[in-house]
Amino acid sequence: MEGRKEYIVEITKAAQQIILTKLNDNYAIDIKNNNQSDIVTEIDIEVEKFLVNKIKERYPNDGFITEENTVCDPNKDYVWIIDPIDGTMNFVYEQRDFAISIALYHEGIGEVGVVCNVVNDEMIVGVRNEGLSVNGIKPSPLTTVNLRQSIIDVSLRTMVTLNEKGIANLFKMSSSILSHRNIGSAAIRICDVALGRAHMYISDTLCIWDFAAGIIILREAGGYDNYMEEELKFTSDRVDLMVANNKGIVTELKDKFYFNN
Ligand code: IPD
Ligand code: CA
Ligand code: CA
Repeated sequence: MEGRKEYIVEITKAAQQIILTKLNDNYAIDIKNNNQSDIVTEIDIEVEKFLVNKIKERYPNDGFITEENTVCDPNKDYVWIIDPIDGTMNFVYEQRDFAISIALYHEGIGEVGVVCNVVNDEMIVGVRNEGLSVNGIKPSPLTTVNLRQSIIDVSLRTMVTLNEKGIANLFKMSSSILSHRNIGSAAIRICDVALGRAHMYISDTLCIWDFAAGIIILREAGGYDNYMEEELKFTSDRVDLMVANNKGIVTELKDKFYFNN
């Protein structure tokens, strides 16, 4: 692991600068998977290629799982899981609330997670068993909350899907929680839970690059995620994710609003 954390931070800072210089450029935008809500810009691709090339220069034997598929080679001891811009919709329309997310897994175990909130200039780093930091400073420990004290981030689309699939009715939860938000970057929201800025993040349709770094950071903060109990598959399949300040609020939420619990 020697030196890898420092190197990830170094190349993430360089990628952050690339994005910042192009924030207001006229870049090309494409629609993915015939879905108007799933967009990719030429900057996503450029940043991914930059990061992958930098990693290959230093660690030529490592593997990758990346969102934009400029490389795919997951069958290695060390695997880098990269989302060059998490929150592309925010990047394009708001020029804020998007992040670079890079995780390093070794033989299936998350070792280093880095999430850089590009515009807020926050570099959040988690190292397994060594804690987390924000711009090099250790944050205050998490305060445990109950459901009524919780700010929950979940998209309207996830709420509709959970309801249509007969899994949960989260439309009813508003009077049982402190507040509801949805900011559109999984990586940022998982870190927000790790930092006590939000208390739960739920999505029924994420890919591993959306949360691979975030959950390493969150676990170092003492938070909960469902992959502590389920197998995390190193594929591009869409999966569900629940992260929380503590497992108790997940149980409370499930008891109240999930159907077959
Ligand atoms: C998306 C964001 C969004 C989540 C989507 C992801 P992208 O990632 O994390 O918050 O709701 O499911 O695909 O496409 O902007 O990298
Ligand atoms: Ca993403
Ligand atoms: Ca992305």
